[in-house]
Amino acid sequence: MNKIHPNRFYLEDYRKKHHRYSRDGFFGNLKRIRTWSSLIQFILRATGLERRGLANAMNIRVNQTVAEFDNLPSGFENSRILFISDFHIELMAGLVDKIIELIKNLEYDYCFLGGDYSTFDKFDMDKTKQGMKKIAEHLKTNRTYGVIGNHDYYETAVFLQSLGVTMLINENTVIERDGAAIYLAGVDDGYIFDSADIGRASAGIPAGAFKILLSHSPQIYRQAQKAGFNFFMAGHTHGGQICLPGGIPLFKSAKAPGKIAKGLWQYKTMTGFTSTGAGCCNAAARFFCPPEIAVLTLKMKKS
Ligand SMILES: [Fe+2]
Repeated sequence: MNKIHPNRFYLEDYRKKHHRYSRDGFFGNLKRIRTWSSLIQFILRATGLERRGLANAMNIRVNQTVAEFDNLPSGFENSRILFISDFHIELMAGLVDKIIELIKNLEYDYCFLGGDYSTFDKFDMDKTKQGMKKIAEHLKTNRTYGVIGNHDYYETAVFLQSLGVTMLINENTVIERDGAAIYLAGVDDGYIFDSADIGRASAGIPAGAFKILLSHSPQIYRQAQKAGFNFFMAGHTHGGQICLPGGIPLFKSAKAPGKIAKGLWQYKTMTGFTSTGAGCCNAAARFFCPPEIAVLTLKMKKS
């Protein structure tokens, strides 16, 4: 089993130093999230939209997507990645069972976890752990790789690792299939903690190798393309979560253009995919932005 990154304690300090809300400290930030959450929930209740929003949020879909590449190693043709992001386990009762119902019979080769297992950080850690343990019982954990998000702590990474998941925190690993190899790198959070380190995550990847970057937030997409990644997978945006008809988000939660906020996208030489996520943040509600569990099939682009 992979160890958690040997520098994780250094990185934990680094995270604290670079925290976007460091002026308010940890408790200030927690208060901000809880206040914002209560306000949105109050507005939904007052406008009679609470039940509809929750029903939409629980209506998780399994979305199949094909991602094509010029240089995909032949051994990975038709390989499938199950990608689940933004669980926010403790926010919705029944979410864990719903996810299990959807994934238990899915066919896939690898599973990637995009972070944000919790919502309110440390105080609900037990619920997060219990939920992720139940979900992991239905995953091929020896083929599951994860990153942490802006709502997570290293404790979550250590716990997931104990379940058999390979956590990638500014590091990479090689994945082999039918005699071919690709590299999978994972970064720490680049949204609130600013501790995503693509250079460190790419260390040792041979030139010319096909490489995938797993990042909680998509906002480091320019750096990822510059570093030569072929495929960039992210979550974090929830696709807006509460949107106007047509999927126009009311709130934006990443410094990234709308075109990379959900679904399959292209930036110069790099293909990207941003999941709308399985769960909810702030309020247990969605409008015009369905939650998803994604299955991505990798294919060689036909000339
Ligand atoms: Fe999230």
